[in-house]
Amino acid sequence: MATLIKNGTIVTGTDMYAADLLVEDELIACIAGGLDVDDVEVVDATGQYVMPGGVEVHTHLDMPFMGTCSSDDFETGTIAAAMGGTTTLVDFIVPEKGKPLSAGLATWRGKSEGKAVIDYGFHCCIVEMTDNTLDEMAEMVAEGITSFKMFTAYPGVLMADDGAIFRALRWAAKEGALLQFHCENGPAIAELVDEIAGRGDLAPKFHGQSRPSRLEGEATARVLALAEVAGAAAYIVHLTCNEALEAVRDARRRGVRAFAETCPQYLYLSSDDLAKPGFEGAKVVCSPPVRDAWHQEPLWRGLATGDLQVVATDHCPFNYVGQKDMGKDDFRKIPNGMPALETRMHLIHEGVNQGRLSLTRFVDAMCTQPAKLFGLYPQKGALVPGADADIVIWDPKREVDLSAAALHMRVDYSPYEGKKVMGGPTKVYRRGQLIVDGDRFLGAAGEGRYLRRQKFDQ
Ligand code: URP
Ligand code: ZN
Ligand code: ZN
Repeated sequence: MATLIKNGTIVTGTDMYAADLLVEDELIACIAGGLDVDDVEVVDATGQYVMPGGVEVHTHLDMPFMGTCSSDDFETGTIAAAMGGTTTLVDFIVPEKGKPLSAGLATWRGKSEGKAVIDYGFHCCIVEMTDNTLDEMAEMVAEGITSFKMFTAYPGVLMADDGAIFRALRWAAKEGALLQFHCENGPAIAELVDEIAGRGDLAPKFHGQSRPSRLEGEATARVLALAEVAGAAAYIVHLTCNEALEAVRDARRRGVRAFAETCPQYLYLSSDDLAKPGFEGAKVVCSPPVRDAWHQEPLWRGLATGDLQVVATDHCPFNYVGQKDMGKDDFRKIPNGMPALETRMHLIHEGVNQGRLSLTRFVDAMCTQPAKLFGLYPQKGALVPGADADIVIWDPKREVDLSAAALHMRVDYSPYEGKKVMGGPTKVYRRGQLIVDGDRFLGAAGEGRYLRRQKFDQ
C-alpha cells in the first residue's frame, strides 16, 4: 500500500517548505506540491512537520558494564527510540579482551537479531591494541562497521595509550574508517578518585568532582593533535564542556577534520543534579560527568553554529533500585550512564521552542549529520526520492511528559521527572510502515534490519 502524506511542512537539514510526500513500497517516491495519486492511503499532516526519522549514533543496549547490564535490550530500547521519533540507531559492540573483534560482532548480532524494531548498525570499541587489531578492524569494515571508539579514560580497563591511538588514526585515514574518542585524562582522574575516596568523600557528587572538565579539554586537544599529525579525521563522543568545545573549534580552525557530538544531558543537567540530597544524584552519574550549569550556554551555541555537529544520547540506562544502588555507599560503584534514547528529539526540539537553534539545524543535528558522518546517507537522515521512507510526522503543539511513567524505556526513573515539553511525533514510519500512531506502537520485534554502513568519506 502506498501512502500520501499531504498538507504538511517538509523540514530537512537545509530547507522548510509546504509539499506532499508519496511513499511507495519502502521508499520515498516523490515530494511535490499538490500531489494527487489514486489507490493510496492519504494522511493529513496539516499544521505538522514532515521530517526524516531520527538517527541516533550512540547507544549501549544490553551492554555488560560495571558488574551489571544496561537495562534496555534491543527490543525495549528500539521501541522506546521509535516512540520518540528515532528510526535508526548505531550501538557499540564492546569486544572481550583476548578475543577477536569478530566474536564481539557475533555477540551483538545475537543480542539484536529478532529483537530490534528499527534499523540499526554497529560501531566497535577498541579495548586493546594487539598485533592483530588493525587487521581485525579491516575485517569489521568489510562487515559494514566503519567506525571505532577508543578511550583515553579507564586506565587498565579500556584506555589506549597515545601510540596506539596514533597508529589507529593513521590506519583509519588510509582505510576509510572514522575513529571516535572518549576524551578524559584517565590516569589523572585515577589519582583524583583515589584521593577523594581516600578521605571518605563517597557521595554521588564526588564522581563529578573527580573528573574535572579541564581534563576532558586536555584529552580532546591531545587526540585532535594526534589526528592532525596522522592526517586523519576524529569524532569526539559525548562532549560535555566548554574546554573540549574550544579544543574542537581550535582544531577545525587549523583545518583538522574534527567532529563532535554532545548529548541532551549535558545541555539540561548539571552538577546541581549530581549534588541532590541523599543518593538522588546517582540517577545522573555518567562519564564524562554532567558539568556546572554555565557550560550549557556555550554547548547550545556550538550546536546552533555547527561547531558541534550531532546530538546523540549515550543511552546507557540502569535502574535506580537494583543497579544504581550498587554504589549507595561509594560513588565508584555506581554504574555510569542514564536513559536518554526516547527523549532526545523532544529535548532538542525544546531548544527550537526557546530560540536556541533553528528547525532545520535541529533536523540536521538529529538526522542528517549523524547519517552523513556514519555512512548512512542518503538512505537514512534525508527526505529525497529513493531514500528509505523513515519519516516522522511531528506536531510542534503536542505536549509531552518526560516522566518515567509516560515513557517506554525499561528503567525505573527519568532524569526529567515532571518536565513537560512542547512537540513530539504523532506518526512514525519505518521504511514506509507505520510503527507509531499517537501513543500506540504498531511494529514487531525483529522487523529492524542490520545496516552495513559505507566507509567514511568526509
Ligand atoms: O557513563 C557512560 N557514558 N556510560 C557509557 C559508557 C561510555 O563511556 O560511553
Ligand atoms: Zn564513552
Ligand atoms: Zn557511550
